[in-house]
Amino acid sequence: AQINDHHMIIKILGSAAGGGFPQWNCNCSNCADVRNGAPGFTARTQSSLAVSRDGKDWVLLNASPDLRKQINDTPELGAQSSGGLRNSPIKAAVLTNGDVDHISGLINLREMEPLAVYGSDRVLTVLAQNSIFNVLNSEKVVRRELKLGEPTKLSGTEAMLGITVEAFPVPGKVALYLEDASKGADFGTVEGDTIGLKITDTETGKYFFYVPGCADLDAPLARRLEGAALVFFDGTLFDDNEMIDAGLSAKTGKRMGHISMSGPEGSIAAFEKLGVARKVYVHINNSNPVLNENSDARKEAEAAGWSIGYDGMEIRI
Ligand code: MLT
Ligand code: MN
Ligand code: ZN
Repeated sequence: AQINDHHMIIKILGSAAGGGFPQWNCNCSNCADVRNGAPGFTARTQSSLAVSRDGKDWVLLNASPDLRKQINDTPELGAQSSGGLRNSPIKAAVLTNGDVDHISGLINLREMEPLAVYGSDRVLTVLAQNSIFNVLNSEKVVRRELKLGEPTKLSGTEAMLGITVEAFPVPGKVALYLEDASKGADFGTVEGDTIGLKITDTETGKYFFYVPGCADLDAPLARRLEGAALVFFDGTLFDDNEMIDAGLSAKTGKRMGHISMSGPEGSIAAFEKLGVARKVYVHINNSNPVLNENSDARKEAEAAGWSIGYDGMEIRI
């Protein structure tokens, strides 16, 4: 692995939303096109980033069901030939919600490697209530609560990562499998169900934001993101109705807890005045027309200064 003393290295492991691109059971035009190798379409795995200060020790931001493939596609993350018989550069994982696409990859990390798993109280409770996660041996894998609004210094069980994480609540929705219709329009959503992360390099003081799920860019969130050098943001849908219009689902983006890119209430408009230097969409649903490099939607997002995240994209700050 490459040593780098001056930068935080950020890699997109998976840029797609739940289901990935193409999604296993989906024959929508985007999924059919990427499956057929049509020009302008690139396959994507599910939602995750990896961050390192030294190129050696890494923290995952979300653990997707595609983690095994992501590790195999990213040599820095696999067992190192310079390490022991069993070793892993992945020292920690930070979870932003309890969604299947963000937590189920933890099960891939089950072979007695030391690991620290960070999440809100709410998400750690979800893990505790799902006994399948006990496959992560508690003698090796510690679970640490991220208190909202408090910067936490990340340490794997072996490594200090030189990174702090501040979790903050963002507008969102409880995970799909936890929705409780009897609890009204928000399905029983509580604070901590969806968090954003501010990730800071403790040596340089440089930071970026990671907000892969967000229902609304409200005033507190806008203030927080204002002037940032780099933000990775929820790019689930382009249009709030696109899944309905395509006949894929009866749900709007709002109903799923995701702000859309376009329109007067969309994220493109909401970021217009925030002065964020680099804006990257992640968690992109397979229905989203920006996945077609030749689409008008793609041109609109790029003209507004957005990058459409892709697997393997690397940014250093
Ligand atoms: C979401 O982002 O809305 C969820 O990942 C959806 C899902 O659980 O399939
Ligand atoms: Mn998701
Ligand atoms: Zn599709």
